[in-house]
Amino acid sequence: MKETINVTDYANLITKALPKGILLNTRAEKFNSMVIGWGHLGTLWGKPTFHVYVRQGRFTRKQLDAAGEFTISVPLEGPDARIGKVCGWQSGYDIDKVTEAGLELVEPSVIATPGIRQYPLTLECRILYAQEQDLSRIPEDIRAKMYPQDVDGRYPMANRDAHTMYVGEIVDAYIIR
Ligand SMILES: Cc1cc2nc3c(=O)[nH]c(=O)nc-3n(C[C@H](O)[C@H](O)[C@H](O)COP(=O)(O)O)c2cc1C
Repeated sequence: MKETINVTDYANLITKALPKGILLNTRAEKFNSMVIGWGHLGTLWGKPTFHVYVRQGRFTRKQLDAAGEFTISVPLEGPDARIGKVCGWQSGYDIDKVTEAGLELVEPSVIATPGIRQYPLTLECRILYAQEQDLSRIPEDIRAKMYPQDVDGRYPMANRDAHTMYVGEIVDAYIIR
């Protein structure tokens, strides 16, 4: 069962959960889920939105561009260690995260990307806008720390690439019960 929510009532919970890791789910080539710690709930062009930042080398980046949509899954009582380890440290290029993390997928209501039973607060989002970061406009100390250019950019946790910001319009919001 899905309990429809007013997403602004959960802004505090979502904002507190983010730095510990919530999930950004995509379905194109296959279903995949990655941990994100950066993002925000807001309003753009008069629409309720969720903004995510995805480095260019991530499997998720390829999926987002192909699918044009995503779901956000937020735990109600803190992150799950197994899910965090698999979805935050390994890539969909290498493994099937549904199997490895034991994700229980729940059929979506409006878009085609499922939610996850273990992380029940779900936002279904359609991508309205995407923009690559311009590293030259990021403060130098942050750029040096967050985007070192002298490292290998290919491993799953690589931090060399710039992020692309994706703005998703929230088209449905609910808690899986
Ligand atoms: C707590 C935490 C927060 C993270 N936040 C982000 C983020 O906001 N953006 C990002 O690009 N990667 C972030 N990552 C790294 C990705 O989750 C990781 O690289 C993942 O393996 C990518 O999966 P994919 O290649 O299947 O897309 C985070 C990892 C952790 C553990």
